[in-house]
Amino acid sequence: GIKIVTIGGGSSYTPELVEGFIKRYDELPVRELWLVDIPEGEKKLQIVGALAKHMVEKAGVPIQVHLTLDRRKALAGADFVTTQMRVGLLDARIKDERIPLKYGVIGQETNGPGGLFKGLRTIPVIMDICRDMEELCPDAWLINFTNPAGMVTEAVLRHANRSKVIGLCNVPIGMKMGVATILGVEQSRVHIDFAGLNHMVFGLGVYVDGDNVTSQVIDKLTGEQSGITMQNILDLGWEKDFIKALGILPCPYHRYYYQTSTMLAHEQEEASKNGTRAEVVKRVEAELFALYEDPDLNIKPPQLEKRGGAYYSEAACNLIHSFYNDRRDIQPVNVRNNGAIASIPDDSAVEVNCVITKQGPIPLAVGDLPVPVRGLVQQIKSFERVAAEAAVTGDYHKALLAMAINPLVPSDVVAKQILDEMLEAHKEYLPQF
Ligand code: G6P
Ligand code: MN
Ligand code: MN
Repeated sequence: GIKIVTIGGGSSYTPELVEGFIKRYDELPVRELWLVDIPEGEKKLQIVGALAKHMVEKAGVPIQVHLTLDRRKALAGADFVTTQMRVGLLDARIKDERIPLKYGVIGQETNGPGGLFKGLRTIPVIMDICRDMEELCPDAWLINFTNPAGMVTEAVLRHANRSKVIGLCNVPIGMKMGVATILGVEQSRVHIDFAGLNHMVFGLGVYVDGDNVTSQVIDKLTGEQSGITMQNILDLGWEKDFIKALGILPCPYHRYYYQTSTMLAHEQEEASKNGTRAEVVKRVEAELFALYEDPDLNIKPPQLEKRGGAYYSEAACNLIHSFYNDRRDIQPVNVRNNGAIASIPDDSAVEVNCVITKQGPIPLAVGDLPVPVRGLVQQIKSFERVAAEAAVTGDYHKALLAMAINPLVPSDVVAKQILDEMLEAHKEYLPQF
């Protein structure tokens, strides 16, 4: 049987994962699911853990659910380790979103200064987990959801000396679902050639039953709403001539780069009216945990779809399923580039379609990205590389460089101001600085 360890097991997303394993039990016999959390998360772990047990019982599958605060005990002999923890919890995310706004800069969980600081807080913890894994389950695969997933995967590949790592995100699956809805076809008929980086992935080509429908899809992204989005990102239609000229499918996060001023104005308005996304998420979480506490609940409640990460377990469970059964199907994941995208370093993490085998994902080569998007992707990759180095070394100047070269940050002086304020605000979670 398979042993899965989920770090950050007290997350409100855990019922997604449990549902995914239950649905696939016949082909993917998970015998043990260890939900691990830290003392601050114990209450949530107990609540969500009890729900997980109810779900498994109701479904009548023999998955043993274990709840623990002892990470090392859980890791011993694991086959797959999934990470979904949030270092500093939602309060740290609020700072990531609010502080940049004071300087007229996008405040976002995985982009710009917020993404940098989420990386600086998260990467040292991931490095610790990798050290524990080396000792306790050296052959296990690390499947990371914790954001910024691209930067985290990059750090593991380049600084933890662990090749068995995969970064995972629900954006590609969300894009595929969006395309299927726009075209009114079954999702299984849609294929997208994904290439780029996490939260910076493009659909280079879109196909239905093998026919290239890219331009038809692009024509439909131009109304009031594009129809391809995530719960956490404002969906405005793309400017008609711009998207036609671009000619490939952007991901929802590209709005921060191509619609910067509109997105910033929207964030500023939201921050004063309804609160930033993290503040909204806090309310959604409270609602979810109130539901989870109901002892009669034994399914994943539909309210979970209000979270931006909805359906992430589809991605996770499909991935583990294909690994375990050597299915060799194509899935977009974050892996070592190995030449798949020509203008990105071989040893960097990229988000590309891969063939999923028992030995791991094999990235499909795309050659190079189109010139109009190539530079932005390279710039974000450079940002992630420098940021990861700053996170593992605690070097102030590297952190400043990462901040300053981020395309959402307008100048060296503003970069330093934001950096200094955020280093101070987050110091409790930045022991390396
Ligand atoms: C998207 C991203 C996830 C991110 C989530 C945020 O789906 O792919 O990486 O965690 O949105 O959603 P939230 O509900 O926390 O704003
Ligand atoms: Mn994501
Ligand atoms: Mn220095």
